[in-house]
Amino acid sequence: MKTFEGYSIRELHLKNRVVMPPMCMNMAIDGVAQDFHLIHYGNAALGEIGLVIVEATGVNPEGRILDKDLGIWNEEQAEGHKMITDVLHKYGSRAGIQLGHAGRKCRIEGIRPVAPSAIAYSGEYDIPREMTSSDIEDVVEAFRSAAIRAVEAGYDLIELHGAHGYLMHEFLSPLTNRRNDEFGGSLENRTRLLKMTAKAVRHAIPQDMPLILRVSASDYFEGGIDLDEMVRIVDILKEDLDMVHVSSGGLVEDQKIRVYPGYQVRFSEEIRNRCKIPTIAVGLLTDIKQVEEILSNDRADLVALGRVLLRDPFILIKESHGLITPLFAYKRGFNVEWRKK
Ligand SMILES: Cc1cc2nc3c(=O)[nH]c(=O)nc-3n(C[C@H](O)[C@H](O)[C@H](O)COP(=O)(O)O)c2cc1C
Repeated sequence: MKTFEGYSIRELHLKNRVVMPPMCMNMAIDGVAQDFHLIHYGNAALGEIGLVIVEATGVNPEGRILDKDLGIWNEEQAEGHKMITDVLHKYGSRAGIQLGHAGRKCRIEGIRPVAPSAIAYSGEYDIPREMTSSDIEDVVEAFRSAAIRAVEAGYDLIELHGAHGYLMHEFLSPLTNRRNDEFGGSLENRTRLLKMTAKAVRHAIPQDMPLILRVSASDYFEGGIDLDEMVRIVDILKEDLDMVHVSSGGLVEDQKIRVYPGYQVRFSEEIRNRCKIPTIAVGLLTDIKQVEEILSNDRADLVALGRVLLRDPFILIKESHGLITPLFAYKRGFNVEWRKK
């Protein structure tokens, strides 16, 4: 099965095509990983997930969505990440991290959110402060230093969070970006911050380390980003990227979305074909047969399983070996066997 075949991006070799996508756990203290994270991510490794992308991690304090999100702006936080990557590596997974900035969706007491324009997400959220050009430079630098810390902490891959209505997405979409400087207006201008960030990170990390970007391929709202516009955005950014992780939505509260199993796969397929860049498909996929269909029909290069892995981190082992236990599978090196199937 293609699901269990290896895959390489630059010098990163994955043992199979299944990814745990970033999922905030709200269990950190002061942005620092706890025992919980070692158990949670360790389970994914015991479950033989090829690539585990650790949850959205704030590049600075206001980059967190909630107070208990992970951070990576100081050494103590970096040490916590090192414990996560050690566990993932020890039990056979490769470790990615999603670096993010919450923008106007930051909801932490005592922190005023920042955004491209002073428009609140909804009545429940604070009105953000419009970023100055020096704030923008600081954000690029925060991503760059976060990436350096992530490399030092042992991560094998970096994902930039450009999706779900957080800062980078807010700059990309005309619904949330009303600026009239060089970061607003035309598509090129709206993409500028992400381009600067991707370049800064690309240059800060080792040549052989993959850099990927998570996007929302549609805002599901008139006047927002649609698939055609996202294709043009990816075209602008792709020289610095190895892969695009294709999600959708999250920018506006009243998005006109219809959700069904695999509803985002067509976005992955289109971006993959039109931009000629590898993709990860994700979204309401619950079954290995769906994963196999997507991979076999070249609709994505990797497939992420989110909530299903929270419910059952051992789904891959069950699918491939029936009812054997994860530790037994690990000790017997069954991951190696899988590749031959
Ligand atoms: C609890 C939870 C936390 C999430 N946190 C993040 C996150 O940190 N970053 C992100 O890009 N997406 C996040 N997501 C979205 C998931 O990565 C994934 O795209 C989504 O759950 C759809 O996949 P699924 O249907 O397989 O769960 C989160 C989803 C859940 C359920």
